[in-house]
Amino acid sequence: PKAVFVLPDGSEVAVNAEAGTNLMSAATQAGVEGIVGDCGGNLACSTCHVFVDESQVALLDPPGEHENEMLEYTAAPREPTSRLCCQIVISEKLDGIRVRVADPQV
Ligand code: FES
Repeated sequence: PKAVFVLPDGSEVAVNAEAGTNLMSAATQAGVEGIVGDCGGNLACSTCHVFVDESQVALLDPPGEHENEMLEYTAAPREPTSRLCCQIVISEKLDGIRVRVADPQV
């Protein structure tokens, strides 16, 4: 499946992500700027913060309790479609998902 990251400057990076992997690893492997993933996907860093395209939010399972808590500690202010992308597991139904990279990640 393909995932599209929209960078803070408006440019887009399309990444081929393997089903079963998470969006954070797909982004860091592809070198997407701004997705840091410091904690390796363990919900401990909030440096994989993205804003999911509003039209696609319904495709995702809602954030779990721990993710929800961690979303309060993101560097950029939380928005209604904020997610930690290490918790988004790629599948065929997410093909073409678009997320905006939160700026800045520290
Ligand atoms: Fe650390 Fe997602 S990679 S919370």
